[in-house]
Amino acid sequence: AVSRPLVGKRVVVTSGPTREAIDPVRYLSNNSSGKQGHAIAKAAAEAGAEVVLVTGPVNLPDPVGVTVVHVESARDMLTAVEQALPATIAIFAAAVADWRVADVAGAKLKKGPAGPPSLAFVENPDILATVAKHPSKRPQLVVGFAAETEAVIDNARAKLARKGSDLIVANDVGVATGTFGGDANTVHIVSADGVETWARQSKDDVARALIALVAKRL
Ligand code: C5P
Repeated sequence: AVSRPLVGKRVVVTSGPTREAIDPVRYLSNNSSGKQGHAIAKAAAEAGAEVVLVTGPVNLPDPVGVTVVHVESARDMLTAVEQALPATIAIFAAAVADWRVADVAGAKLKKGPAGPPSLAFVENPDILATVAKHPSKRPQLVVGFAAETEAVIDNARAKLARKGSDLIVANDVGVATGTFGGDANTVHIVSADGVETWARQSKDDVARALIALVAKRL
C-alpha cells in the first residue's frame, strides 16, 4: 500500500529557472531543467497533498493531480507563491535568477555604431527567504535547495541560517556531475540536526525520500 502521510496538507513547490527580460525578445536564464522540482510536486501529490507547483519555463509536462502555475520572472514567481499560501509545507527547488535587468528596453536593442549595450542589474526578491520569514503565513516546514559548485555543505549551512529555512537540500551542480538537466542527483540534507548525505539516486527517488522526510518532521 502507498502511504499517504500528506492527506489534507497543502504543499507549495517552486521549480525550473526564471527568465528575466532584457528587451521584448531577449532574456537571461539558467540551465535548470525543473526535473527535481517537478518530481517533488509529483511525490507530494502521491503522498496525498494538495499541491501547487509554481514553475518557470521548462520542457516538462504538468504533473497530473497538481495545480500548476506557469511564470517567467522571479517577481512573478514570488507573487504566485504568495497567492498559494497558506500552506503546511513549502519546497523551493527553482533556480531563481539572482538579478534582473534594471531597465528592460521597451523595443528590441539594435546593433549600431554606439557598440554593445551595457546592462545594469538589480537584485531579485529572495522567494525562499521571504516565505521563511513571513510574519503571518510561514509554512510549518520550509525547504530550500542549494545548487553549488564548491564548498557544497559549508555554503548550505550558511544558507540555512541566512534564509531561515528548516532544511536545505544541497547538491553539487558542477558540470562534471551532470545534475543540471540529468536524471540523477546526489544530495546532502542540511538542518539544525546536522548533515545527512544520501546515495546518488534518481531525482524521482530523491523526491520521494524528501517527501517522506518532510512528512515525518511535521
Ligand atoms: O542563494 P541561492 O540562490 O543559492 O539559494 C537557493 C535557494 O533559494 C533555493 O531553494 C532557491 O529556490 C531559493 N531562492 C529563491 N529566490 C531567489 C533565490 C533563491 O527562492 N531569488
